[in-house]
Amino acid sequence: MDNLLNSEQLSKNEIEEILQKAESFLNYRGDDLKGKVLAALFYEPSTRTRLSFETAMHRLGGSVISVTDVGASSIAKGESLDDTARVVSRFADVIAVRHPDAGSAHIFADNSEVPVINAGDGAGQHPTQALLDMFTIQKEIGKFDGLKVVMTGDLRYGRCPNSLAYMLANYDVEFVFVSPPELKMKPEVKEFLDEKGIKFEETEDFKEGIKDADVLYCTRIQQERFADSQEYENLKDVYILNKKLVEELCPNAIIMHPLPRVHEISHDVDEMENAKYFKQVEYGVAVRMALLTLLT
Ligand code: NCD
Repeated sequence: MDNLLNSEQLSKNEIEEILQKAESFLNYRGDDLKGKVLAALFYEPSTRTRLSFETAMHRLGGSVISVTDVGASSIAKGESLDDTARVVSRFADVIAVRHPDAGSAHIFADNSEVPVINAGDGAGQHPTQALLDMFTIQKEIGKFDGLKVVMTGDLRYGRCPNSLAYMLANYDVEFVFVSPPELKMKPEVKEFLDEKGIKFEETEDFKEGIKDADVLYCTRIQQERFADSQEYENLKDVYILNKKLVEELCPNAIIMHPLPRVHEISHDVDEMENAKYFKQVEYGVAVRMALLTLLT
């Protein structure tokens, strides 16, 4: 693997190799990447993903250089992404980049001398999140085949649900996509699932949709991607999961969320055994350690 830019690029074998490696990095500290440098370029807000990449590199004995403020980088002077990639790849051994434009990670990869990891390109993809989501399902349920995976929230602008759907399509799963009509799952994802013969349903009905889920993957409405702020206001509280709903409708589901959570999961769910969203954060470090060792 030269770069990790999207979920579809990974074969089932490659996914399983990464997950297996991640298993060996849980609670690991070592010097495997001593002398290597990760450039973490975050041109869009991030807490988890950036700190998770940085932690992963530190736990492997490597070091990190980063940009977290576009205003403090040469992009603010008009430098193109192509040139930034050419420059940064002369400092670093691997680059993790997050940028508001879909497709930006590909531009980076085309101009970089070193491997590029897409850490979120606008409403495009977020393949390392998908890998850590896969790892969470494997750790918490132990299998992918036969699962009913329900995704709720902003399936149009969110980059996590589509990235995970592409990866899970390597297995015998069925999906339910629960969203308001304005925020339906991207058409290209549905075409991909059709081609692969993976069943999915779409509904606006939250209670009906989440019934009997094995995996309930909740997402926030992506405020920053709405052209019309009123549209966001109308949709922002459309679905709220609480303890009572979980108990009544999907008592055996694991509940996942890429975070940040805004209103879509009420805090009374946090104490439930079903809630795995903070576990996801923990697993993410091991997955990124696995990737960094495979790419450098
Ligand atoms: C997500 C992202 O940035 O796409 N966060 C993350 O990386 N864990 C989800 C989101 O912002 O809603």
